[in-house]
Amino acid sequence: MLCTCQPGFESLLGLEMGALGFATQEIGPGWVLSNAPTPTPMPEVAFAYLIFNSPVEIQADSVNALAQKVLDYFMKALGPTRIDEAWPCVWQFEAELVGLGRRVSAVEAAFLEMLKKRMSRLAKLAVNATPRESGDVKGLFVRFVDFGRAYVSFEAFSNGQKRMADDDYAPSRSYLKVEEAYVVLGIDPKENETVVDLGAAPGGWSYSAARHGAKVIAVDNGPLKAGALNNDLIEHVLADAFGYCPPDNAQVDWLFCDLVEDPNHVLDNLITPWLTKGWCKRFVINFKFGRADPIALLKQLRSPTSPFVTHAKYFKIRHLFHDREEFTVVGSTV
Ligand SMILES: C[S@@+](CC[C@H](N)C(=O)[O-])C[C@H]1O[C@@H](n2cnc3c(N)ncnc32)[C@H](O)[C@@H]1O
Repeated sequence: MLCTCQPGFESLLGLEMGALGFATQEIGPGWVLSNAPTPTPMPEVAFAYLIFNSPVEIQADSVNALAQKVLDYFMKALGPTRIDEAWPCVWQFEAELVGLGRRVSAVEAAFLEMLKKRMSRLAKLAVNATPRESGDVKGLFVRFVDFGRAYVSFEAFSNGQKRMADDDYAPSRSYLKVEEAYVVLGIDPKENETVVDLGAAPGGWSYSAARHGAKVIAVDNGPLKAGALNNDLIEHVLADAFGYCPPDNAQVDWLFCDLVEDPNHVLDNLITPWLTKGWCKRFVINFKFGRADPIALLKQLRSPTSPFVTHAKYFKIRHLFHDREEFTVVGSTV
């Protein structure tokens, strides 16, 4: 399998894959190749964005020769499969290699021209974007790792990370993170729902939930700003997140938690009590790994004694497109 990730995080992705039993064959900027077969179902790989199942390496010197090889691969993999709707035809490349983007665009154009001659309707339905939902996807996935070398796959698994659109009133860039987390979870806060946002300031996550119509209790000793300040749907509570309990100890719809704190402290002294006491239906929690070992932390979050394993119906751990030295856990207890 070939896994892609945020450039700069390929070593961590390789270590995570190794810990899951997938030996690393080759690592490049934003990708890791393993010759281990892709298991079904695919285990969770937090640092992976898109996982190419059974990738095939192609090599050629010219644009047309590369396009022809991709076409030959695609026609063989497609076989008798009928495609009647828009399908992902995804072309990725190393942004670091100057000029590669132009070459890949030329190969893509040549490929589509060749495909049009054979199956014009199919060529018109091709869309160069991974689907918004996470899960198995079929189509054409091409990753150029050099000017004359690419990996292609007909099947892939998408972990659902996406670049999100900014909002002029959002008080922080963190806003993008929680918006992306809803996409991974497949659910977003709704009108009349209640959100407790621990470590809320300056208010990006609170503002996001309020924009979706939810009522928010924003817990932080720091000040709220921009769209989160004087927002009718946001109540600012000046308190320590670790001692905070929801009103009347009653279950709230959402727990948000985005504290700059040691992740083990957050897990043991905040998340564990919240999930054990059943205080939230859904959660979005960001763990900053900082000085902690992210691979050990992932192992702990997935271990049989983890509060996510013992108390959540399901959860997903993702290194989001908008995450840096951190990852985000989303899930539900109901
Ligand atoms: C990364 S910021 C949160 C950003 C926020 N999610 C947003 O979207 O704007 C972390 C926040 O955690 C708060 N924080 C850290 N420890 C805390 C604690 N024990 N109780 C409450 N807030 C805390 C800090 O004051 C800081 O505002």
